[in-house]
Amino acid sequence: MKKILMLSIISLLALVVAACSEGSTGGSGEQKTDDKPIVIKFSHVTSIDSVKGKAAERFAELVAEKTGGKAKVEVYPSSQLYGDNDELDALVSGNVHMIAPSVTKMVKLDPRWQYVDMPFLFENQAHAQKFFESDVAKSLLNSDKLAGNDIMGLVFWENGFKHFTNNKHQLQKPEDFKGLKFRAQAGKVLEAQFNALGAGSATISFGETYAALQQGTVDGQENTYNNIDTQKYQEVQKYMTLSEHGRLDYAVFVNKPFWDKMPEDIRTQVGEALKEATELEWQLAADENAASLENIKKSGKVEVLELTDEERTAIAEALDPVYDEFGETITSELIDGIRNLK
Ligand code: LMR
Repeated sequence: MKKILMLSIISLLALVVAACSEGSTGGSGEQKTDDKPIVIKFSHVTSIDSVKGKAAERFAELVAEKTGGKAKVEVYPSSQLYGDNDELDALVSGNVHMIAPSVTKMVKLDPRWQYVDMPFLFENQAHAQKFFESDVAKSLLNSDKLAGNDIMGLVFWENGFKHFTNNKHQLQKPEDFKGLKFRAQAGKVLEAQFNALGAGSATISFGETYAALQQGTVDGQENTYNNIDTQKYQEVQKYMTLSEHGRLDYAVFVNKPFWDKMPEDIRTQVGEALKEATELEWQLAADENAASLENIKKSGKVEVLELTDEERTAIAEALDPVYDEFGETITSELIDGIRNLK
């Protein structure tokens, strides 16, 4: 009898422990916040001192402040948890809850995200900013394709214009690209861009790009000043052309079931934190990219070339075939929608 009583008490205790430790994401309905904070895992691939890295850290601080510690953002930078090849899958499966990839990497789910690679589509930073807050941008964030994969886009984060670097010779005219091989982030549009210039390309994850440049697997790459500087590509590249031929921007995506399950008040506070972090991120993008260009120049390791208007136009014209090939995939709704925001 005593033994049965003991066993019943042990089972009861086990049930209580299990209920308490169901934790922040388990069970059905809203997440529990009474004992442990809700943990939001935020994974990204750039370094902690990059534009995205700094903004993610500030977002984490703001979430802690605004929720009074009821939610906690754990930031995993530098592909520590997941790299380019698996962070989207990790988000879909709920192994991480937030990511902020360069939007072209969303090509796996929806090819329209390659709008960002369409050559010379954006005129300047103000144009990109107008786009982030436009209905065209919202149509991408809230698309059925994302919802069908249990993810939702929340906001756009900025990085900036891309520029070419390489270690063979200066790139001033379309012919100069001939025969070189470049690292590309993802997708067919970038492949077509390099083809149109007579160059080859290889898709290489961000985390492996430095080594690929160092070992000569590729001759060059294209990126923003801040990514070049914070990844120290100036150590392994000799030439940089200030081309502004395409953009590299981000969107913050969340796992939708996780987001929907958050208690409403916490979700609102996290949303407010994200709004504030986003304003800071946009400012950081401008400031950090400007500072990075200075750093690259100061390193004395890279020969920096500014293109004349005529030289930029010649490269833009050489890239026109990319519009013939991909205009339909990206859709005129997006391309014209972006052009009309100028
Ligand atoms: C790259 O792969 O070059 C970038 O997408 C990295 C990043 O997240 O800025």
